[in-house]
Amino acid sequence: MTDPLRTAVLPTIARTDFPADFRWGCSTSSFQIEGGAHEDGRGESIWDRFCATPGKIRDGSNGDVACDHYHRWPEDLSLAQSLGVNAYRFSIAWPRIFPQGTGATPNAKGLDFYSRLVDGMLERGLQPWATLYHWDLPQALQDRGGWVHRDTVAAYLAYTDAVTRHLGDRVKHWITHNEPFCSAFLGHSEGNHAPGIRDHAAALQVCHHLLLSHGQAIPLIKRNVADAKVGITLSLHPIAPATQSPADVAAAHRHDGTRNRWFLDPLYGRGYPADVLQMLGPLAPKVQAGDLEAMATPADFLGVNYYFPEVVADAPGQGITHSQVVESHDVERTAFGWQVSPEGMTTLLARVHRDYAPGDIYLTENGSTWEDTMLPDGTVNDAQRVSYLVRHLAAARQALAEGVPLKGYFYWSLLDNFEWAEGYIRRFGLAWVDYTTQQRTLKASGHWYRQFLKG
Ligand code: FCB
Repeated sequence: MTDPLRTAVLPTIARTDFPADFRWGCSTSSFQIEGGAHEDGRGESIWDRFCATPGKIRDGSNGDVACDHYHRWPEDLSLAQSLGVNAYRFSIAWPRIFPQGTGATPNAKGLDFYSRLVDGMLERGLQPWATLYHWDLPQALQDRGGWVHRDTVAAYLAYTDAVTRHLGDRVKHWITHNEPFCSAFLGHSEGNHAPGIRDHAAALQVCHHLLLSHGQAIPLIKRNVADAKVGITLSLHPIAPATQSPADVAAAHRHDGTRNRWFLDPLYGRGYPADVLQMLGPLAPKVQAGDLEAMATPADFLGVNYYFPEVVADAPGQGITHSQVVESHDVERTAFGWQVSPEGMTTLLARVHRDYAPGDIYLTENGSTWEDTMLPDGTVNDAQRVSYLVRHLAAARQALAEGVPLKGYFYWSLLDNFEWAEGYIRRFGLAWVDYTTQQRTLKASGHWYRQFLKG
């Protein structure tokens, strides 16, 4: 449910409400925008294979062309520059660098593409923020077990080594992984993301390997890149109990264990949460000596992707956590059904800072999807996205006021793009993409962000 009247009660907000050195950006990822799937030696990724499997993608689409960013990147970077952002978050497609996942030498054409892209950012005053893994694993590695298999950690480190050696003279901000929750659990437990496996124990092992590879990558990146800042991006949710009954409060805590603490605890030196390990029993991941220490290698920042809060009730017998997410009907929701809660973002950031003190925090993604339409005059009046953006920026300002060391905000996304299992149905962009002509048109939200950033 959406309430158009909310636009009438928007908070006033100005760039000058934020510190002068605050990073302003927008985010994208390789598979979702690049296309060029068969060019310059790019190998197959697990998302190519998943898209080719009937019934997996809602509109039957794939990433072969996507936003054709592989060819149109100069225009896209100029569009980002025109907004006035000073940072741009993108990801590197591992199958462009090592088409078979591993190898003695990286694919020079793949490295060249990202080299030109990074130069293009620097020419336009955009600080490059590179994500090394935003879900597009080379299919060749999946054929050998993928992230379930510990060897993939070594392959990831070799890939990271090649990329950071090549781009590290110009890229100083590195994100090891995007949302391990999604790659591990959506991909290997729920199976609605690539590689489409449904095996909870496997998902937990994948998650372990993702976090391990993050920790092991930190010293490697620092060795290759002078002045590198390295972090990980997690998708986190504020969790509230459905009622104040002790049963619901306990259920919310259990759910928080699998959604948030499962990642934050080991990254910040506490090992896996004991209560979750107990719930998991034999499903718990296999951990080798030294793994937990490696996972807790200090990072320079934490990236938080914030989309929605969850309200949780006790549900004996349901899943591992004996809890269920309750869908309240009287709340504002995006077209995806995600509850809109700017306050939740403030609560979440304050909690992460209080409980884990990760140091610098960046909102590496925040955004929303609506039933956008292009009007006959060629404009897209996405008032709901404007409202969402304004209210979430106010929530970021509030987090700063509460003492959270929030250092930057990256809007998801610069462009409408391939939204994973939803295909091209869901539009998150500040710019509308016409997938027939590949024309980009700034939406009202893009114009608003530009005005805001002018200060
Ligand atoms: C996040 C993903 C990003 C995008 C947004 C809407 O979970 O990191 O790629 O799909 O959701």
